[in-house]
Parts: sequence; structure tokens; C-alpha cells
Amino acid sequence: MLKEVYYPSEALSKNATIKSMDEYRALAEEASRDYEGFWAKYAKEKIDWFAPFTRVLNEDNAPFYKWFEGGKLNVAHQCVGRHIATKKNKAAIIFEGDNGDQRIITYRELWYEINRAANMFKNQFGIQKGDRVVLYMPMISEAAISMLACAKIGAIHSVVFGGFSAEALRDRIIDAEAKLVITADGAFRKGSPYMLKPVVDKALEHGCECVKAVCIVERNGEDIEWIAGRDYAYNELIKNESNVCEDEMMDSEDPLFLLYTSGSTGKPKGVQHSTAGYILWAQMTMEWVFDIKDNDTYWCTADVGWITGHTYIVYGPLAAGATTVMFEGVPTFPDAGRCWRMVEEYQINQFYTAPTAIRLLHKMGADEPKKYDLSSLRILGTVGEPIDPPAWKWYYEEIGGSKCSIVDTYWQTETGGHMISPLPGATPIKPACATFPLPGIITEVIDEEGNPTPIGEKGFMCVTKPWPSMIRTIWGDPDRFVKSYFGDCKKDGKPVYFTGDGAMIDEDGYVTITGRTDDVINVSGHRMGTAEVEAAVKKHSHVAAVAVVGKPHPIKGEGIFAYIVLKETIKDTTAEEMDIAQDINKIIKEEIGAIAVCDSIVIVPDLPKTRSGKIMRRILRSIAKGEAITQDTSTLEDPSIVKKIEDIVNSDDI
Ligand code: WTA
Repeated sequence: MLKEVYYPSEALSKNATIKSMDEYRALAEEASRDYEGFWAKYAKEKIDWFAPFTRVLNEDNAPFYKWFEGGKLNVAHQCVGRHIATKKNKAAIIFEGDNGDQRIITYRELWYEINRAANMFKNQFGIQKGDRVVLYMPMISEAAISMLACAKIGAIHSVVFGGFSAEALRDRIIDAEAKLVITADGAFRKGSPYMLKPVVDKALEHGCECVKAVCIVERNGEDIEWIAGRDYAYNELIKNESNVCEDEMMDSEDPLFLLYTSGSTGKPKGVQHSTAGYILWAQMTMEWVFDIKDNDTYWCTADVGWITGHTYIVYGPLAAGATTVMFEGVPTFPDAGRCWRMVEEYQINQFYTAPTAIRLLHKMGADEPKKYDLSSLRILGTVGEPIDPPAWKWYYEEIGGSKCSIVDTYWQTETGGHMISPLPGATPIKPACATFPLPGIITEVIDEEGNPTPIGEKGFMCVTKPWPSMIRTIWGDPDRFVKSYFGDCKKDGKPVYFTGDGAMIDEDGYVTITGRTDDVINVSGHRMGTAEVEAAVKKHSHVAAVAVVGKPHPIKGEGIFAYIVLKETIKDTTAEEMDIAQDINKIIKEEIGAIAVCDSIVIVPDLPKTRSGKIMRRILRSIAKGEAITQDTSTLEDPSIVKKIEDIVNSDDI
């Protein structure tokens, strides 16, 4: 690990919301002294309540915590409506299309758009408070507008990333029992149109009787099929709607949205977020971690289909009254300078992306940043996966001109917002280190027995107190919620939240996240559950058994490595190997989406199993990485299998 420490620039510190480590410590101290008082203060100050809350935190039914009970609010009002008085002509969303087309939406125009869409959902589709609406959208402004229109009327949105397949979309629609699907004909990517509506058609072929209508935004103008009585044109219907709409009075704990994410077992989980706690932390972290100021233009390159897109493209920036950029395209088109050209064009002050993108842009265009004026940048952010020191240095020096603070933000779909992150005007930064928990977030790194791990040793990253923006439950499966995140370990009599990540604290108290400790693979900053990928691979008729593991990848962080055992009947047909690998990846694309395809698929005679039949994934992980096997193999049913698999992997030169 690099030993250098990078201090925030004086100019940055001077004007920052949190200016020094003393201020940070004072806030953290205040939170630990009077936890509820701390949160109550911010909730009162930041949220424009329609009715005040009467209880800060209800822990009676832990871990089903409730925050700010009795309070009434509306997230669309918090994000847009309340800003009209002071910011109506300010740009709320700057949209840039793949082909460079632009749309700048002011706060006033955004408010009208949200109201019209909200009226359309109510009047045309009968959507009411509590109904679920699935969004399968490209990165266009209507995605944000539809999310906020749902919030406005109290409908619960579930955004499904546009890269997911029809099967994956269907599963999510059925699980949420969605009444309405909002999509687009398609959009543009790398200069060409791509399609989304046909995927929705396929998803709805069976099992989705809950869906009463599909509402389609026109983006690329390509031909699509229209099913009479089910499919409606967003752009046509919205024209007839009024731009005035009542805010639904929402309770603090009403669900705001569901977002499906992968766990180590079974199907993706519908992570359910609350209204008040979620929006409070989304806004506070914009102010603390991105130090957002009224004149700033902020750009997060995530997709709205992920939590980063929810909290840090739509809800956080708008709640903070900022100007947020939405980009339809990819960072490498038309060339690897696209992002830097956009930074110059829009004078971006905060730029937030994933380490995968940084590594890719470094590799494809190390000199591109030099061609642009990046001096507007003040804060750079990373998210989704650990960043390696070389990528960090390039980002710091070439993009940030050695004057920007880099915030390595550690958090999860379940946490709603940042948990561990530098504060740009305060924290002396160690490269590739998430540094310290934010004030109000109480974390601990513990061992198997629940004891804090010694300095420099890896343990489990846990959160020991409930926080406002935390997951409330898994949609339709409260038992799974408890089992997935809360073990037997208790602090102050309350169950501890397990993140599923490993972490280490150094002698200065800095936290480094070391990666997942469960069977979740992090591909380009996206979570993939091994169980999900394995279930897809098993659909291949020749596959008898499969185990997938993560393998370090120079750009993607981790790639997926699959070991498969063929059925007896076709075991000797090695000539078919190549086709089998291709066929398996085709099935994965159909079942999940292109993000889950395997980089390597090797055929092995058997998997390393214990006598009770448990697959020893740790051995498979070590072999994939080319590491020496240090695990005890004597408990295996057939210890000789390890050597056989090693030989195959090494001879394949994968
Ligand atoms: C990983 C994304 C290291 C981690 C916001 C976590 C990180 C998972 C970081 C959540 C970081 C996220 N450093 N690892 N700064 N940020 N992760 O739910 O493994 O898509 O559990 O949320 O990404 O992924 P998710």
C-alpha cells in the first residue's frame, strides 16, 4: 500500500461544508453522544415537512427500524417542488445524448414534467399510492422524471437496469407485482440505436398478468410493435395532462422504491427503501461528501438502473438543489476523451465514476485528459469497487491536476447512501482507502466471534447502529432480510448489520475495504451472485455441475470464471468445448444479461467437494487466481481432483 497522505487543497478546505478533521471529529462525537438528537436535528433542518415527526427512532421491532415516525413529506417536493421559489430558472438536469444532443431542464420545467407524468400515471393508468411501477429505461431525462412522478403520487418504483435480459426483467416484474411498466423504444449507444421495448414484450410473454399497461417514451424512433390496449405512447399521453398535481402526503416510513440486487444465494433481492430516512441521507451526503454548492455542476456517470444512479444522479443532487448531468452514452465513444470533453463543456465541478471506467480510460487514452481544460474540477469520486493505487494516481494527477480531493465512497444498495468516505475539505487521504465512517454512521470491523479485529487484520465490515437510509426489508420476504444481513452478533442488545465486505483498519484508524467475503462477485462495480450465474449455466443441457468464482481482471476488477462438469454422456467430446462455452454465455445473456457473461469457462472432471457434498469454492478461487493452494484438502471427497483441475487451468493458459 502507498504510504503517502494527500491533504485537501487550502482553497477547497476554506469553502467546504466540513473544513477540517476537528470539525469531522466534533460531528462524529456529537452523533455518538446523542445519536437520536443528532439525526433529529438534521431531519428538522433539511427536510421540508408537511407535518413534523413525533419519534426519531423506533427500535422496538429490530432490525425492522423506523425513523421519523409521524412525519409527512413528499420526495418530489423535497427534490424539486420546494426549490421552485428560489431556483426556478436554474438547470436541474443537463442531459447529453450519445450523439451529443443536449437538453437542459430547469427546475420549473422539471416540476411541470413531473406533474404531467404524475397526472398521466394516475389518470391514464390508475396508479395509486403503494402500487409498483417498473422502469426499464435508458439514460434519458424521462427516467428521472418518471421516478420523481412515482414519488409524487406515492407509487413505488423499481428501476431495472436496461442491460438486464427479458428473463431478469420478468422475474423482477413478477416479484414486485408491478401494474405499469415504463420503457422507451430504445436509445443510442456508440453511435447506433439499440432497443428496449422488444425486451419488455418478451418479458411480458408469460407470467406477468399483474401488468396492465406499458408506457413507451420515444427516444430513437425505431419501429416497435404496439399491442393495442396494453401499449401507450408516453409523449402523446403526457401532452394532455395538466402541469399541476397535488403532492401525495407520504409517511416517513412509506416505501419510496425497490431496487433488486444480487446476494450470495438465490434470486435477486428487492431492497426496499424508505421515504424520509433515504432522502435525508441522500441530501446530507451530497452536501458533505460532494460539498455541493449552489453554482456547482455535478456529474455522476452511473446508470439510473443502479443505486448510485438513484441516490447520486437523481435524488441526492436534486434534493440538494444542484445541477445534475445525465449522459446517455459510453465514456469511450466517439473516443476515450468523451468524459473530459464533457467536463470542459459543462464546467463540471464534481465528477463521480467507477474504478473500472478510470482503468479503461487510462488504458485507452492516457493522454486524452491533456487535451481539455479540466480546471473546473474540485472533487473526484469513485464508487462500486476497490480502486487500485495506479488508477488512483492517474485519476488524481491527470484528471484532478493534483489539486482535487478524491472521495473513495464505500456504500451499498442496502445502505442507501455513502457510509465510509473521505470528506473532501477535511480528510487527509491515503490513496485507495475509504478512510473514515461519516458522522452518524457507526461501524466496526469484527472477527468471526464478534470481537473487533486488531490493527492491520482483516475482518467483517459491520454497522452497529441503525441509520436513517438503511434498507427496511426485502420486498415480500422479511425473513430473508433478517437472515441476509443480521447474524447472531449483537451490540447494545441490537443485531449488527453485516455488509458482506471485508475491511481492515490501519494504525491511524483508516478503513480499507478489502472486497466481498461472501459469494458475490464484483464485475465492473456491479454485483453478481454466484448462485444466479450458476443457475443460468445449469440450463445448458450438457452441464452436470458448475461452480463460478471471481478472478481478478485488469479492467473490470473481477471477471467471472466458471468450472463446469459435463454430463457422463458427452464427457469425451472435448472438441465441442468451444461451442459449449459460447452456448453457455448465450444462455447467461438470455437469463441475466451481458454483464454476467463468463470470461473463462473450463471443463473439469469434477468439482472439489467435501464428503457432505459442499463445493470448496475457496480452492477454486485460488486456482483461478493462480495462487498456491494453502487450504486443507484432506477433507475432500477426492483430494486428487485439486491437482487435476490445476493442471487443466494451467494448460489452458487462461
Ligand atoms: C463494493 C454500489 C470498495 C462493496 C454503491 C459493496 C466498494 C458493493 C466500494 C456494493 C468502495 C462499493 N471500495 N468496494 N469505495 N463501494 N463497493 O450494492 O463490495 O451495487 O458491498 O452498491 O460494492 O455494490 P452495490
